Amino acid sequence: IPVDPFDLVVFGATGDLANRKILPGLYRRFFAGQIPEKSKIIGAARSEMDIEAFRAQARAAITDHVGKAKQVPAQIEAFLRVLDYVAIDAQGDAGWDELAAKVDCARVNAFYFSVAPALFGPLAERLHRYQMAGPEARIVVEKPFGRDLATARALNATLAAHFDEHQIYRIDHYLGKETVQNLMAVRFANILFEPLWNAQYVDHVQITVAETVGVGGRGSYYDKSGAMRDMVQNHMMQLLCLIAMEPPYHFDPDAVRDEKLKVIRALQPVQPADIVRGQYLAHRHCADEGALRGYLEDVENPNSRTESYIALKCHIANWRWQGTPFYLRTGKRLRARTSEIAITFRQPPHSIFDETDASWRENVLVIRLQPNEGMNLKVMIKEPGPGGMRLVQVPLDMSFAEALGEDGADIPDAYERLIMDVIRGNQTLFMRGDEVEAAWAWTDPVIAGWDERGERPQPYDSGSSGPEDALMLMHRDGRRWREIR
Ligand code: BG6
Repeated sequence: IPVDPFDLVVFGATGDLANRKILPGLYRRFFAGQIPEKSKIIGAARSEMDIEAFRAQARAAITDHVGKAKQVPAQIEAFLRVLDYVAIDAQGDAGWDELAAKVDCARVNAFYFSVAPALFGPLAERLHRYQMAGPEARIVVEKPFGRDLATARALNATLAAHFDEHQIYRIDHYLGKETVQNLMAVRFANILFEPLWNAQYVDHVQITVAETVGVGGRGSYYDKSGAMRDMVQNHMMQLLCLIAMEPPYHFDPDAVRDEKLKVIRALQPVQPADIVRGQYLAHRHCADEGALRGYLEDVENPNSRTESYIALKCHIANWRWQGTPFYLRTGKRLRARTSEIAITFRQPPHSIFDETDASWRENVLVIRLQPNEGMNLKVMIKEPGPGGMRLVQVPLDMSFAEALGEDGADIPDAYERLIMDVIRGNQTLFMRGDEVEAAWAWTDPVIAGWDERGERPQPYDSGSSGPEDALMLMHRDGRRWREIR
């Protein structure tokens, strides 16, 4: 959907996220003809540099992060002409008059806070003071949105002092992933699944986000955060909500977010016995080549008790899900990079076939978020041949890239989709303030529990599937994790 010319200011325009995701993503949208040439994309950061230096930085970001097929010189030049730059002091007054003169308050203007959360308040306050917080203004804030309920509340209050909730776009980039949105399409555009989508028919749900990378250069942030704050409170919680929520009355921002909020509020406290935390050890056979250091060395903190892996079991106390556990796991330096949601259905109540191995009878719907986005439904059929009625489980497999041809292979990155949603004024894929607070309200006591007990995460080998005890979390319920591969 085309948009009218707009102004987008990227605070933190020289940072890592801007170079890896925001600028390349904006270029790809420009290339697709979605950003009118009369728009302005204004980089703002502390560094004193002229516009040509900023354009050179953007050009390098495009070269490094955009596929070769889209690196068309004339298009790149045209995109660079849309860029502008202002050196700004987020906590002082330098640069603000200049920025205000460049932003046209009569048209849509968005301000992307790609900066440390400590600067969210000062930026919001200055946008207001320099009269850029008009009714057409939108602000985009990155995670982490607080580190607990108290800090998230304080952050919400700071932003609310200058902007209405409908102007605040809290990014969770998982919501911008194609397959994550497809979850809603699968559930609410088909009659097939909904009648089975409840505790009567679903035995359990597994949500896995496995990464091969370690904490890399982000050690100082990560060690204060850990997998629970970094992944579970936000990305995994959002996935869980989309699986578990009731059908919204309309695909509309507040209708969708109201339903997600109800799920978070219905989440039961997690019991200590239902959590396994881990920390990776150095290992030579890791998929991430050269990743030889263990977590403690990576974060340069030999006493760290922060988890780089977490597996937990949780329950949603409502009519739909009473009795169906949700198992969540995420970790760094695991065997493979794979994110998926697996919904395991209960077995048929009675088998008319003479089978010995009943465990094969379950139907599993797997939604692959990455890599190779798609869906896979495991169904039972008769094994071909004259050997009698022998059953075998086979996949009904669909890869988006194959099913949708070129369109499927050219899936836009989460960030570029989300930025365009900001410009269009569509908040459906952004977290509302009360949702973020409810997620922290559930997360806080879990973290406080292990802090009080002084628990240490269990070591696991890099390149493995995580700590041994995580297997037990499932085994003792007579279930097993799907393989990470
Ligand atoms: C980020 C986390 O939000 O998500 C990172 O801070 C994590 O630690 C990343 O690696 C995972 O995102 P993706 O899109 O690569 O699965």
